[in-house]
Amino acid sequence: MSGRGVEVTIGSAVFKNPVFLASGPAGYGLEYETVIDLAVLGGVVAKTITYKPLVGNRGARLRETPSGLLNSIGLENVGCEAFLSEKLPAMVERGMRPIVSIGAEGWEDYERLLERLSGTEGFDAVEINLSCPNVDIGGMAVGRDPELVEKYVRRASEVLGGKCILAKLTPNVEDIVPLALSAEGAGADGIVAVNTIVGMDIDVRNRKLVFDRVTAGLSGPAILPVALAAVWKIARSVEIPVVGVGGISSVDDALKFFMAGAAAVEVGTAIFYDPELPVRIIERLEKDGIPERLSG
Ligand SMILES: Cc1cc2nc3c(=O)[nH]c(=O)nc-3n(C[C@H](O)[C@H](O)[C@H](O)COP(=O)(O)O)c2cc1C
Repeated sequence: MSGRGVEVTIGSAVFKNPVFLASGPAGYGLEYETVIDLAVLGGVVAKTITYKPLVGNRGARLRETPSGLLNSIGLENVGCEAFLSEKLPAMVERGMRPIVSIGAEGWEDYERLLERLSGTEGFDAVEINLSCPNVDIGGMAVGRDPELVEKYVRRASEVLGGKCILAKLTPNVEDIVPLALSAEGAGADGIVAVNTIVGMDIDVRNRKLVFDRVTAGLSGPAILPVALAAVWKIARSVEIPVVGVGGISSVDDALKFFMAGAAAVEVGTAIFYDPELPVRIIERLEKDGIPERLSG
């Protein structure tokens, strides 16, 4: 693809375009290699990894809603050793621009993961998942507390100095802005907003909860207005770039995020039923340019 320059710079990283795949729905990207050419995307955020492999949650994991998707995957992942030796090299070999998503089951786990990642080649951008609603330890429990956000982001910037550090925030708070300010103050190069919104479902016929953990994370078109409002507020509160994610299911949806103040966007759930969408967004941006942010 050619056309208008649509590069975006976040911290030390230059992405060839501002359209990324969100962490999770496409796994490590490799699962989608026969469906779309992920090398054309500005970045592919891999499924969140933890230091050790995790099997994820038991019971139902996915449930569609009329305008979204509930998931309770619970950070199932191959662990950092298998990610670094198998998944990451395979992503690079296929021409993808990997953004490594990291999570932890606690502080010690987090430190060990950062230590393992430091000095590792093959990627120059990291997204800290401070926002998973589907685990008991780490995840959203950390990401709801501005002091813990500051602690986690600061440590990543210290240990992974030189790499682009993105902080992915949860919308499951009264006000997301203090979290964004904490991340910025601690050295984040960009804010990613948002992760899924807490929801639940009930199987009426069997009088049973759908998910073993009661609640799950809602994504897809239903959450776009929430994500858009978060991006709007954050973009007017911090100096660093904001990456918009949540409910993008059309080219126009993506354009809304740029108008709200995002420097880049991530597509998640829509990849399940419209895998070509990220490519169409890139084509539109190359044709018409990146929309200017609205004033206000
Ligand atoms: C099946 C599934 C798995 C996900 N796994 C992760 C994950 O591992 N790490 C993460 O930061 N976000 C994860 N997410 C959240 C998405 O990256 C994204 O923030 C959210 O779904 C909102 O965007 P969307 O509406 O475009 O899907 C997951 C979402 C879904 C639907």
